[in-house]
Amino acid sequence: MKLLLLSLGLALLCSHTEEIADPVTSNFDLSKLSGDWYSIYLASDNKKKIEENGSMRFFLERIYVLEHSSLYFKLHTIVNGQCIEVPFICDSTGKDGECSSDYDGHTLAHILETDYVGYLIYHAENSNNEGKSQIMELYGREPDVSTELKEKFVEYCRDHGIVMENIIDLTRINRCLQARDNALV
Ligand SMILES: *[C@@H]1O[C@H](CO)[C@@H](O)[C@H](O)[C@H]1NC(C)=O
Repeated sequence: MKLLLLSLGLALLCSHTEEIADPVTSNFDLSKLSGDWYSIYLASDNKKKIEENGSMRFFLERIYVLEHSSLYFKLHTIVNGQCIEVPFICDSTGKDGECSSDYDGHTLAHILETDYVGYLIYHAENSNNEGKSQIMELYGREPDVSTELKEKFVEYCRDHGIVMENIIDLTRINRCLQARDNALV
């Protein structure tokens, strides 16, 4: 019995470590970002951008890698209580892990850290005639991620001057999971 428990424990330990891949913070291979993702945490130093009806309040379903390392994001947002699909293209700037878009003025985004298989953290700067804001987001391959990753994200936010109160936990709100292709209805 003890042996069984021990081997079970070891099996759990091993399957756990397998999920932890090495964090990558430079020389990103964007082709590895394609596929399904979930928005987990969303943060901004200009909170109205990410609150209800905010211009940066999107929920990610999938990333497609286009030619020349540009990225296509299949997003959802809520308009009048309805989830609607929003296509979003971020054009590669040629710099490592960086892309830009003319959405809402000008938005320049770059990846801070990812392991491709579990999570991705990015930072974006938006500027328009109302001023500048920062947006940061944590994506997961699963609908939720570990507390450690969430803490890592909070630390990244702190490094960029974004306080805890400006971080929204999207796992607690309607993030349009029911609108996804693989939704169980
Ligand atoms: C968001 O927009 C809808 C529709 O215009 C409105 O009914 C709702 O009050 C808005 N929510 C906020 C927080 O402004």
